[in-house]
Amino acid sequence: MKLIVTGGAGFIGSAFVRLLLSTPGPYEITVLDKLTYAGNPDNLAPVASDPRYKFVQADIADAVAVNAVVDEVQPDAIVHFAAESHVDRSILSPEPVVQTNIFGTFTLLEAARRAGVKRFLHVSTDEVYGSIPEPHEADENYPLIASSPYSASKAGSDLLALSYWTTYKMPVMVTRASNNYGPYQFPEKLIPLMIANALEGKTLPVYGDGQQIRDWLYVDDHCRAILAVLEKGRAGEVYNIGGSRALPNLEVVQRIIAATGLDESSIRYVTDRPGHDRRYALTSDKLTRETGWAPQMEFEAGLAATIDWYRTNTRWIERVRTGAYREYYDQNYENR
Ligand code: NAD
Ligand code: TYD
Repeated sequence: MKLIVTGGAGFIGSAFVRLLLSTPGPYEITVLDKLTYAGNPDNLAPVASDPRYKFVQADIADAVAVNAVVDEVQPDAIVHFAAESHVDRSILSPEPVVQTNIFGTFTLLEAARRAGVKRFLHVSTDEVYGSIPEPHEADENYPLIASSPYSASKAGSDLLALSYWTTYKMPVMVTRASNNYGPYQFPEKLIPLMIANALEGKTLPVYGDGQQIRDWLYVDDHCRAILAVLEKGRAGEVYNIGGSRALPNLEVVQRIIAATGLDESSIRYVTDRPGHDRRYALTSDKLTRETGWAPQMEFEAGLAATIDWYRTNTRWIERVRTGAYREYYDQNYENR
């Protein structure tokens, strides 16, 4: 089975590629990735010499480049991870978010339609449902009430992708996962940023009161869910993927503090994020019912493994924390 995996050099896409190539199997993978600040060839180093793997550097919004890759590979399926994936960056600079997440997805859908691709899996997020009041959980029919330019761009691209099933009968599936964590995550999101700062003895910037709730999903559990949807999901359907582990941010930070030997004085409460969603909560009953998937990693074990990975892979952190990272860090945190 020939796959094009967009965004395969990022955090989740690379975990998906490593998972599929970790055992003998039917998959041949071409990663299509622009290598933005978040795309890192080091993430794919474990599979670099696998004959089932190929890498093409291209922008999903570049129709000529995308059509050329699709024509050459003749994929059976496209798994679409590529995105500008960070809420804070989308607030500071929404233009690339709209360009990649909406126009890039459109370009890819058109290429897939032209080539008659048999499966198109659009990887999305539970953030499209917006903040969910207690005690509710979003199922796949919950209204889309996206708050940030990031989540609005994902909601837009979800609808566009689904329209290709409704209108053209192109077999599209959409997955909506909760917050991921694990090795190789760029240190801009909550968990890797706090771990990287803690290991360096820097302060830990908590937005607002830190009582916002996120549902944590270990990245490999997410990737197994995506594989389950790719193999067993029904065309035109949306599947939620949750970690079944809801925690307030402050508690996550406190666990990182405890595991890294810091004390609470390292927490710095900073101005809240504009439009900050208070609570995410979703049910993945549909996915479990239809594919048998369930998350396997307990949060305690997953967090310990993640901290260990960052402790061991200091060179990886140093390499991604370039001048551009420091510029972003100053812009987002210094005058907050
Ligand atoms: P990431 O930021 O780590 O990686 C994104 C990848 O996409 C990078 O390799 C980057 O180079 C590539 N990319 C960006 N713009 C591109 C373009 N125009 N053309 C080609 N490649 C481009 O993101 P991630 O955390 O791995 O997220 C992957 C997907 O999963 C995204 O679609 C995101 O919305 C979704 N998602 C993420 C989470 C999470 O917690 N991280 C949760 C649910 C859903
Ligand atoms: P993030 O990892 O950016 O994911 P998302 O906003 O997509 O859920 O943030 C997770 C939560 O952590 C969110 O409520 C914002 C909060 N947060 C902080 O308090 N401090 C930080 O430095 C970051 C990056 C996030």
